[in-house]
Parts: sequence; C-alpha cells; structure tokens
Amino acid sequence: MIMGPITRIDVHLGLRSYPVLIGHGWLRSIGETLRDQGLKQTDAFVITDPQVGGLLFEEVRLSLASAGFRTVLRHDIPVGEEGKNWDEFSGACAALLAASPEAGSVPLVILLGGGVVGDLGGFAAGVFRRGVPFVQIPTTLLAAVDSSVGGKVAVNFGGVKNIMGIFNQPRLVACDLASLQTLSLRELRSGASEVIKYGAVCSASLFEQLERGDLERLLALEPEVLTDIVAQCVALKAAVVEQDEFDKKGVRNVLNFGHTFGHALELSADYALTHGEAIAIGMIAATRLAIALGQCEPRFLERLTGLLTRAGLPTSHSDAPGLFDRVLRAMQLDKKFREGRNVFVLPTVPGAWQQRENVEWPLVEAALRSVLV
Ligand SMILES: NC(=O)c1ccc[n+]([C@@H]2O[C@H](COP(=O)([O-])OP(=O)(O)OC[C@H]3O[C@@H](n4cnc5c(N)ncnc54)[C@H](O)[C@@H]3O)[C@@H](O)[C@H]2O)c1
Ligand SMILES: [Zn+2]
Repeated sequence: MIMGPITRIDVHLGLRSYPVLIGHGWLRSIGETLRDQGLKQTDAFVITDPQVGGLLFEEVRLSLASAGFRTVLRHDIPVGEEGKNWDEFSGACAALLAASPEAGSVPLVILLGGGVVGDLGGFAAGVFRRGVPFVQIPTTLLAAVDSSVGGKVAVNFGGVKNIMGIFNQPRLVACDLASLQTLSLRELRSGASEVIKYGAVCSASLFEQLERGDLERLLALEPEVLTDIVAQCVALKAAVVEQDEFDKKGVRNVLNFGHTFGHALELSADYALTHGEAIAIGMIAATRLAIALGQCEPRFLERLTGLLTRAGLPTSHSDAPGLFDRVLRAMQLDKKFREGRNVFVLPTVPGAWQQRENVEWPLVEAALRSVLV
C-alpha cells in the first residue's frame, strides 16, 4: 500500500489539545509518527483484541521497534461489546501494573482497535497512576469517525452502558483507513450509522452528500470519499467537543441523537445488535418522537429511513416477550435522564436539532413501540 497524504485535524482543548491524523496505508510508520509527535517513552503497551491484534499488531510492533521502543507488550481484551466490562477493565489495569511496577517505567499506552478497545483502554490509561499518556489507533469506521475522538472513555456496568468512565483525551489519534479493508460489512455499516447521525443533526451538506451517492462510495471504501467523510465527521466532532469538553453545557448532547433509545435497545437485546445498528433504530424512534412533538416533518423521516436502508442498517427490531419493558427500564437508567426528567435530542431539519426535556411518557412509549415490530 502506498502512503498518501495525511489529513490533520486538530482538537483544540488548551493543554489537552491533540491532532487527529488520517491517512491511507501508513500504519507501518506509526512508530516514527509517535516520535514526531514528541512521544518519547521507552516502552509501549498495546491494548487490542484478538481479531485486530491478529491482523495489525505485528505491523505496529515492528514499526514501534524500529522507532526505538525497547519493549512492545500486548494485552488483549475479548472481541466485542461483552468485553467492555469492569472485569476486563480491571484485567487491563493489572496488566499495566505488571508492565510498569515503578513510576519511572510508564509505557506509552496504545489502543489498537474499535470503540470497545478505545473506550476500555482509555479508561484504564486515565486512572492508572492518575493518568498516563495514550494514543488511539482506531481500526473500525465507527471508531474513526466517533469514539476515538473526544475523550469519553468508559465501560458498561450493572446493566448500564458506559456508566463507569471518565473524560480522558488521547495525545494523538492515528487513523490508517487502509486498515478498514478487513472489517466485515456488518461492522462497516455500523460505522456508517454514526456517519448518517452526523449528517442528520450536524451537517445538512454531509446528509445531502451521502444521499447523492457518497454513502455507497463510503461503504465501498473508495479512498478519496472515505478520507473526506471521515475528516468531515472528525471535524464536526472536534468542533462540538471543543465547545463542551466535559459535557456540561448541553452542546455535546447533539452526538447522542438516537442514543437514548439506541443504548437501551443495545443492552436489552443482549448485544444481538451492533452499536451502529441499535443507533440506527434509535434514530428512527427519536425522529418519530420529534414528529409527534411537531418539531420535524415526516419528509425527514423518509430521507433518514432511505439512507439507513441504503446502508443496510435496520430501522426496526423484532419484538420479543418482555423486550419493550426492558428497553423502557434501561432508558430510565440512562445517565442522561437527570433527576427523573427525560432528555431527548431530536432532529428538526437535516443538520439541526433541538433538545426536549420532560417529554410526555406515552409519546416516548409510542415511539419505542413503532420500532419494535
Ligand atoms: N467514546 C465515545 O465517544 C464513543 C462514541 C461512539 C461509540 N462508542 C462505543 O464504541 C463501541 C463500538 O465500537 P465499534 O463499533 O468500533 O466496535 P468494536 O470495538 O466491538 O469492533 C467491532 C468488531 O470489529 C472488529 N474489528 C475492529 N477493527 C477491525 C479491522 N480493522 N478488521 C477486522 N475486524 C476489526 C473487532 O474485533 C470487533 O469484533 C461501543 O461500545 C460504543 O459504546 C464510544
Ligand atoms: Zn454512538
């Protein structure tokens, strides 16, 4: 693979600022890139999963070794959302402690994988010795456009998504889009769900670009379109995070479009759905709710459904005994529901949104019912 130009997007957060570097076929020079970014650690500690590690660890290890990293340790967490739990988090912390028993020997933590590795590993790096530097190398479309940027890191706990976590920004996000070629179609589609989310509530021009045919080009991993769209999503996310790094001002809520219904469904369906699939269904439910509240035209729902369907994503889920109640309960446990008031991020027109609080519960139930068929 020939190394092409690198697109750089800076996330401006004062002392916690960092670049997101996006390129094609450049993972083999990751060691050099880390050194160029001023990361001078002697050792590296790579957290990955068996699937990604099997595909990419050796290339990363060789590159790190040739850039002078003395040891490159690998710690695997299990593949998939079920591994994003407290025990695995604790296991990663134990491995970090074993790798660096003294404060002087802290390795650079490198998170090589999708959102699960990034979320769990970023949390471990953030609490180990009150925080050690880490780098994200996202290897899924979802991680490239969303989870690797912004510093929200967490694990699931007590049946609640991402309930144990912190804000912890990486030193660098290094995204080699060539590594997406081994992703399953299902995982690619899952990432496309977050891309559609950005278009739906953050950028009318991205929404229209996807509608005009770039959605298919994205899914076909056409390098130019892929780079352009990943860079747009990262820039959109960076702009939101820069205004509301700690999720205190309500600005960051936009990124939760579809996630209140979606997270609850993801957990209640016992991980039968990928994150992106659950969010796709969640966006449909939220849009129906927006229509019921009179803040969105049915035409938006048609356009959103069109894009999700073209991406091969579900827009409903088969009902099962007790599922409706489980999802409702999980929604009420959502950390966005403060002091018993429900909070929803709802679309208005492409590229815009409104937050609604204290929505009448029967409307919420009706929106959920509409996607359980
Ligand atoms: N922190 C945030 O801001 C944020 C934002 C969005 C999502 N998330 C979280 O991200 C997680 C979902 O991330 P995900 O969709 O990347 O899932 P994931 O990390 O589980 O990866 C999906 C699957 O793809 C495999 N895989 C990864 N890279 C591959 C590659 N290059 N080739 C082949 N297979 C590969 C993995 O082994 C896994 O089986 C969820 O837990 C979600 O809550 C976090
Ligand atoms: Zn998401």
